[in-house]
Amino acid sequence: MKRILIAYSTTDGHTVKICSRLQSALEAAGHTVSVVPIAETGREMLEQSDTVVIGASIRYGKHQPQVYEFIAEHQALLDGRPNAFFTVNVVARKPEKSTPETNPYLLKFLKQINWKPKQLGVFAGRINYSLYGFLDRTMIRFIMWMTKGPTAADTDIEFTDWARVEAFAKQVGDM
Ligand SMILES: Cc1cc2nc3c(=O)[nH]c(=O)nc-3n(C[C@H](O)[C@H](O)[C@H](O)COP(=O)(O)O)c2cc1C
Repeated sequence: MKRILIAYSTTDGHTVKICSRLQSALEAAGHTVSVVPIAETGREMLEQSDTVVIGASIRYGKHQPQVYEFIAEHQALLDGRPNAFFTVNVVARKPEKSTPETNPYLLKFLKQINWKPKQLGVFAGRINYSLYGFLDRTMIRFIMWMTKGPTAADTDIEFTDWARVEAFAKQVGDM
């Protein structure tokens, strides 16, 4: 049974929900799991973990700078143990952009970093217009209109395929 650390970067909280589901699945399989914001994840936590997972959401095409910084700072520790990375974005709601081989944000991200995660995941996120300020809401509604997604002001949709989250948890537990 392993000690598994899940370090996350989120803006609106959906990545945390995915981390919690991973945690439940991994704990049910007998592992010990810590879910920690990436900004609060220190070297000792990595050293004390058998497996490390990083999860991060996309906002305006990018993962947060702290994700890049964390990976650059701790790459040797990451490489020294089983590790995984997953991204959360709404483009992934489209089946043809929903895998590590086809999600444009993940492909771009992997070109920008030196780390090669041993396991990769792509999860579709959530759209909840009531959470966003005027500018963000207007931008995202426009992007949704362009990409044939939901535009109603009261939209609150989770596009996440939870069965895929569970399958990813199994892969992480088996690493
Ligand atoms: C301001 C804003 C910008 C976003 N930009 C993108 C984007 O460029 N591409 C995309 O696929 N999803 C985009 N999203 C969707 C988020 O990735 C999605 O809501 C995700 O669930 C957010 O996860 P979080 O709650 O953990 O931050 C954006 C969402 C917001 C609110």
